Amino acid sequence: MPTGENPLLRSPLSRRRFLALGGGLAATATLGAACSSQPQAGPPPRVGPQSPAVTAAAQARQVPGAPTVNVALQAAPAEIDLGAGTRVSTWAFRGQLPGKEIRAKKGDVLRVDLRNQLPQDTTIHWHGLAIRNDMDGVPGLTQDPIKSGANFRYEFTLPESGTFWFHPHVGMQLDRGLYAPLIIEDPNEPGKYDTEVVVVLDDWIDGTGTNPDAVLANLNQQGMAMGAGGGMSGMGMSGNGPLGGDAGDVNYPYYLANGKIAAAPQVVEAKPGQRIRLRLINAGADTAFRVGMPTSAMTITHTDGFPVTPQQAQAVIMGMGERVDAIITVPDTTTPLLVVPEGKNGIAQLVIRVNQGVAPDPRTLVPAFLQRPVLNTAATRATEQVFLPTKKPDVTHDLVLKGPTNGPAGKYTWTINDKMYNPAEGLPVRQGQRARLRFINQSMMYHPMHLHGHTFQVRGQGGVGPRKDTVLVLPMQTVEVDFDADNPGQWLTHCHNLYHGESGMMTVTSYVE
Ligand code: C2O
Ligand code: CU
Repeated sequence: MPTGENPLLRSPLSRRRFLALGGGLAATATLGAACSSQPQAGPPPRVGPQSPAVTAAAQARQVPGAPTVNVALQAAPAEIDLGAGTRVSTWAFRGQLPGKEIRAKKGDVLRVDLRNQLPQDTTIHWHGLAIRNDMDGVPGLTQDPIKSGANFRYEFTLPESGTFWFHPHVGMQLDRGLYAPLIIEDPNEPGKYDTEVVVVLDDWIDGTGTNPDAVLANLNQQGMAMGAGGGMSGMGMSGNGPLGGDAGDVNYPYYLANGKIAAAPQVVEAKPGQRIRLRLINAGADTAFRVGMPTSAMTITHTDGFPVTPQQAQAVIMGMGERVDAIITVPDTTTPLLVVPEGKNGIAQLVIRVNQGVAPDPRTLVPAFLQRPVLNTAATRATEQVFLPTKKPDVTHDLVLKGPTNGPAGKYTWTINDKMYNPAEGLPVRQGQRARLRFINQSMMYHPMHLHGHTFQVRGQGGVGPRKDTVLVLPMQTVEVDFDADNPGQWLTHCHNLYHGESGMMTVTSYVE
């Protein structure tokens, strides 16, 4: 194994080196005190992805006798039909878009054998799951990249039930077709619904005469001119709306629901009065979606896999990476589920068909739909069972989010605390601490901020809010989240706008000894 290539992955080595410094010095470093008088001590050593603490946490999660779910997954170039004769060349899992869902039960061991048949390195990240750090899929931080032509086995215990998903964590691959749902069932969950439908939302540009790498290169070249806060002409958005004025940096030709354009939607046959649990996943790279039924409300039951006090919503807004579970009651007539890209031109839909009916053109329903009140999931409340009781944080980290307008002049860069991503730097926490992250948005664009390996408690109004792993932070706003540092390792913490992440807006929540 070529682990020696990357010094960041050699935490056992650095730990040994650290211990070799001797007890007195080690104690000083561990307390983080008086470092200036001990220049050779440096910062406390990291708890690396292969450290004994990671193994111990993984063992504690194991359920004796739990079955193993085996999946053979291949990432490869593919020809995909987006519907109505729109064909694109892209990269996909097993030639499908979205990738075929993986479904298992809480406590099961998931074992995925990945074959990389892409012309690039890849990895898989299991979005939202508190799994062992060496399975988290971040190249250069938790594992070596999986080379083109190579295989890698991911194997870990599924810690929670809920709606999750997976995608690579290499370059712009997520904005191609490499994403799929991961649905984890809870055998003890009551389930007050008749059937369920998983709906994966996406913004699509790959294979339409360009590709995401070229789009990013363009943004970098044009810098501010095209970047956020700058010339968003053509996006048709005024200065208000649930996300502020700036809807995104990329104009997409298509928006998809379950891999289909609005002209050729997936059709779900249903009966009036039936209750359908929707599992909505925003797999977009630069697009938030407003989702809902045109005339009836939905009952929001979960966000990011975790239950919330059921809440009625006319429409819900979902940032990239977010998931929402919502129960709808099937109306008497055929109706589209509307999927409207926020502040952009276009639409996607999924048709709920009743008695062979014909759905109205969804575009005619949009103006009225956009008038309805819209729920940001950050305003929901965790149920009592999953609410993380408030306590004084042992450590608080501020993450100041800035963009092209207040970053290095003329450059398309997105920063956290004025820095671009460096895997060797991070926000130290220690196992056992209660930690607080304060996302302080000083840019004019929204950022869906995501923490790997944990589900934080959003500190909403009056200290209550949902449990989430990805939370919308609106322009010039601050969102505080708390979590218990109970999953040792190195955890990427980033904006789930892929163009922002790849342009710097990532850091590491870094367990240290
Ligand atoms: Cu879907 Cu680093 O995340
Ligand atoms: Cu962002």
